[in-house]
Amino acid sequence: MRLIIVSNRLPVVLTVGERGMEIREAVGGLATAVKSFIKATENGKALGFSEVVWAGWSGIKAEQESEDLKSRLREMGLLPVSLTAEEVNFFYEGFCNSTLWPLFHGFTVYTVFESKYWEAYVKVNQKYAETVASVANTGDFVWIHDYHLMLMPAMLREMSPDVSIGFFLHIPFPPAEMYQLMPPPWRTALLDGVLASDLVGFHIHEYVNNFVRAVSKFLGYRTEAGVIYAGRRKVHVGAFPIGIDFDFFYNSSLDPEVAGQIEELRQKLRGLKIIFSIDRLDYTKGVINRVHAWERFLKEHPQWRGKASFILIVVPSRIGVPQYDAMKREIEREVGRINGELGDVNWTPIVYISRFIPTPTLLALYNIADVALITPLRDGMNLVSKEYVATKRDCKGVLILSETAGASHELLEALIVNPNDESGVVEAIAKALTMEPEEQCRRIKAMQEKLRQQNVVKWAVDFLHSLMLAYRENTESFT
Ligand code: UDP
Ligand code: G6P
Repeated sequence: MRLIIVSNRLPVVLTVGERGMEIREAVGGLATAVKSFIKATENGKALGFSEVVWAGWSGIKAEQESEDLKSRLREMGLLPVSLTAEEVNFFYEGFCNSTLWPLFHGFTVYTVFESKYWEAYVKVNQKYAETVASVANTGDFVWIHDYHLMLMPAMLREMSPDVSIGFFLHIPFPPAEMYQLMPPPWRTALLDGVLASDLVGFHIHEYVNNFVRAVSKFLGYRTEAGVIYAGRRKVHVGAFPIGIDFDFFYNSSLDPEVAGQIEELRQKLRGLKIIFSIDRLDYTKGVINRVHAWERFLKEHPQWRGKASFILIVVPSRIGVPQYDAMKREIEREVGRINGELGDVNWTPIVYISRFIPTPTLLALYNIADVALITPLRDGMNLVSKEYVATKRDCKGVLILSETAGASHELLEALIVNPNDESGVVEAIAKALTMEPEEQCRRIKAMQEKLRQQNVVKWAVDFLHSLMLAYRENTESFT
């Protein structure tokens, strides 16, 4: 019995740059979490799987992919799905990231409804289903991830009826009234696509409730607590809040490489208080609001000028989608303006970095940051907030977190803010910078306890166990 993971992207990303083909780790909560769980369970063996296979896209266009490259990926236990340049354009940048992503995060003005995007979405989901069906055997578990593949469960069910299918959405599911903006044939097909699974998981109850409401409103299916009756099938739905590899982050300062970087950073920063954030470049992350709140803080609390800096890391993402490009330019303009207006030769108000950060450096930054300012406008979960808290072995540090991030439902001891309430964010920064060490420690400890228990392995085990029960119930009802 194998576990087949399916996500749009593989856990590694290939890029064709000046130095030829390069390979790096994929960024994002999905990749981080699934990778950690596979590693912690020794490639699924600790859970009774013979192996784990991961199907997804390598990040380069089919036209650039050689047979040799594909066989090297297969040797790594990866099953590449090729996307042509047109599919990258219409499926990935199109329906996935110009339709589903903005709509599901509540950015209706950015949402584009284009028939050619939809057609590509259907075609590419079919391609993923065919790739998985070609390797799936009776009894295998197929775990499909995220909004890119909402039609795939139904397509796979047709091709491989004897596998259990689980689907997990890593982003919010919007309220039914917002989902209603989607053209009717598409919105029903997406729901029916997902409902071919035995189990459907979301991060928090709010998204589960939104999904169940959409199903009854648009499909008219009967629902009851945790179950949807889709024709003759019983589909289980539930909240499975994703976690992190707690011990990895908690023990990070013991790693000699990370310890060396912490020491180096501390020497360079010479007592400066550090406010920190790291995000993928995305309008959902509220980077501009955050930068403006920091500017207002420095204007209203001038005593902190020269004493605190904001390290703002924004990792490039989806640069082919117009809003992402525009956002990068806006951040650069605003950071430049604020540094120009408020900074001086000895002090930079915002240290802005716009590139991928390797894990040891990220861990060192989490360790030294006095405050993490995590203010997404909407975020399915947000793992960065959890990683920051887990890293604080010395019990020092303050997390400021948006109430619109899924993580705020668990990290109750953070300073919870509304990202659009600039004065509330300014107040939280002031409170964080002056918080007594005892209070910092009390809050950190309470959050760490939850993160230790609700870790990434627990998330995966809970989901897979529920999937096994759901599949059994469905197959037994037919025998
Ligand atoms: N991350 C990373 N290197 C980077 C930037 C981010 O490894 O340069 C990781 C980060 O540690 C976290 C994930 O990417 O695990 C981001 O997940 P999150 O849920 O916060 O946001 P998402 O990108 O999924 O929207
Ligand atoms: C979010 C999504 C993931 C996605 C990641 C990175 O975490 O939920 O599905 O992989 O962002 O985005 P990208 O478009 O680079 O895959």
